[in-house]
Amino acid sequence: MLSLGSLTAGYDGGTVLHGLDLEVAAGSVHAVVGHNGAGKTTLIQTVAGLVPTASGRVSVAGADVTRLPAHRRAQAGIGLVPQGRRVFPGLTVQEHLTLAFGRGRRRREAAQWTPDSVKELLPRLAERAGHRGRQLSGGEQQMLAIARALLGQPRLLLLDEPTEGLAPLIVQDIATLIRTLPARGLTILVAAPRPALAVAVAERVTILVAGRAAGEFTAAQLRERPELAAAAMGHAAGADQEPAIADRADVGSAT
Ligand SMILES: Nc1ncnc2c1ncn2[C@@H]1O[C@H](COP(=O)(O)OP(=O)(O)O)[C@@H](O)[C@H]1O
Ligand SMILES: [Mg+2]
Repeated sequence: MLSLGSLTAGYDGGTVLHGLDLEVAAGSVHAVVGHNGAGKTTLIQTVAGLVPTASGRVSVAGADVTRLPAHRRAQAGIGLVPQGRRVFPGLTVQEHLTLAFGRGRRRREAAQWTPDSVKELLPRLAERAGHRGRQLSGGEQQMLAIARALLGQPRLLLLDEPTEGLAPLIVQDIATLIRTLPARGLTILVAAPRPALAVAVAERVTILVAGRAAGEFTAAQLRERPELAAAAMGHAAGADQEPAIADRADVGSAT
């Protein structure tokens, strides 16, 4: 669904991604894990078309989108849930959903996602429909950011640190939600600073170090041998210990 070939990108200040190759299979969840500053956001924004590609290739479902601007990539089925959520503090949940649905109106006749269907997926948003962005908890804001992206009718959803700053129980809700999305026809690329979320939601994990792929593993490999991720990230096993996210069977309902 997503193919990056020798992707190089960055800012006026310098190159951040150095010839990155990455393949994300349709219907899979793929995670990119790296420390702060590794280039995760730059990668996601380059795929979304918000950071220009210096060289290399971005393809979605076999179509080369490298030269397309961000709005055309959105039309081509790339959805973005940005780091920090970017919820409007003064708009209600319902207003966010109505606006996001309106933006995707070209595809509305065939729309898989409507304000009603995202509220079915995320009943918490239905309960909070009249609340303004600033009144929502971090977890509710994250659900709203995901709902808004779904209303653009994406095939490929990019999630940039979706559990940043959230309490552990809410992290599990978001992880459960992410795992349900492939069954609804989505392919997911998710960025995270540590392997815990990645191994909880993804099939494959790419370790990003200073804008280069420092290893690719299956989540099963990393669950069995967490030291592989630690070594690829450049530190000794045990140096970055963190509680595991509960296994599928232990996680409660998504909302
Ligand atoms: N808008 C920007 N302009 C210039 N440099 C940036 C910008 N955004 C990020 N960078 C730099 O790019 C590098 C990678 O940052 P980023 O992609 O945000 O990493 P991550 O998301 O993994 O923390 C860092 O050195 C950062 O300072
Ligand atoms: Mg980032």
